[in-house]
Amino acid sequence: MTPAEARVDLSAIRDNVALLGERAPGAELMVAVKADGYGHGLVASAGACLEGGATRLGTAYLREALRLRAEGITAPILSWIIPPGEPLEEAIHQDVELSAGAPGLVDAIAVAAGRTGRIARLHLKADTGMSRGGAVAADWPALVERAMARQSEGTVEIVGLWSHLACSDMPGHPSIEAQLTAFDEALAIAEKAGAGGSHVVRHIANSAATLLLPQARYDMVRPGLAAFGLSPVPRLGGFGLRPAMSLVARIALTKRVPAGSGVSYGHLYITDRETTLGLVPLGYADGVPRHSTGRVEVVAAGRRRPVVGRVCMDQFVIDVGDDALEEGDEVILFGDGSRGEPTAQEWADSLGTITHEIVTGIGSRVPRVYR
Ligand SMILES: Cc1ncc(COP(=O)(O)O)c(C=O)c1O
Repeated sequence: MTPAEARVDLSAIRDNVALLGERAPGAELMVAVKADGYGHGLVASAGACLEGGATRLGTAYLREALRLRAEGITAPILSWIIPPGEPLEEAIHQDVELSAGAPGLVDAIAVAAGRTGRIARLHLKADTGMSRGGAVAADWPALVERAMARQSEGTVEIVGLWSHLACSDMPGHPSIEAQLTAFDEALAIAEKAGAGGSHVVRHIANSAATLLLPQARYDMVRPGLAAFGLSPVPRLGGFGLRPAMSLVARIALTKRVPAGSGVSYGHLYITDRETTLGLVPLGYADGVPRHSTGRVEVVAAGRRRPVVGRVCMDQFVIDVGDDALEEGDEVILFGDGSRGEPTAQEWADSLGTITHEIVTGIGSRVPRVYR
């Protein structure tokens, strides 16, 4: 084994995706595999999602979609963050579907499509109340009109109408119904303008909406986090999902130190007795947040151990008292909890964040090892 690795159970991803498919009957299933498959590895995760029943993949950036194509993935892929200067021609050539939320981008895509001699497949994005990507209600008719004009000239084809929910993980939040109403209005305007044929896929639901909001399914759901086994609404439980990643390391060094030993930068921890310390070869450059000290536990030598002393860039220290710990012993930072280890959810709760940030934060030095 390497000094540390993120073990990814691809069968868990397959099963989670199958479960999401069952929870959204009648809807197509696109899984968001952006950010290196939520830290689980882009290509392997995408393959597992497709095996689990996803028919499409979503990425934030074109370079993620192009990497999937380079690795031989032929399923439809939608990319949705397209700043100026992106390789539009290559994306169109590689059949990557493109999101546009402004007429200027529709034009840029149409020009690029004209150069390739292919028709670009467009998903028009409505901002229904998140104030992130997409056209707000006042700008939506102009966006649809521009896309329709480009469609008539034969450079683009509108294949999707979509939006994103801001508070789907907060059941009952008034913005949910407001956004769905705004989405329906945007769809009606597009349909009236002729952009709503039966081949046009309407989609708005992320993981939480896929699991909790049947009225948000439309033609397709677009979960990410849940595919990796992490709950989009932790206070409502795990929804039967299985966490796919465990983060493990091997102890690099052990030592007995006397009482009164200051540990790591700043001596945040001082031993109160003679004890055994273990050095774990993972640090904040690998996704163990610097402020994990005293907040997060790991499993070593059969039990939970606190992270003591400042987490450094490449390493941190655990205190195992008088228990036996040897170099090479396995330390489990987080996993599915079956060996007594914390879950990524427990880490997220202790660190005041969400599991998205924990798993996507695992650095590139940590190899992903698939089972
Ligand atoms: C546009 C879009 N769709 C879908 C998703 C998937 O969301 P989640 O991981 O909460 O299911 C994301 C992720 O943030 C997103 O940005």
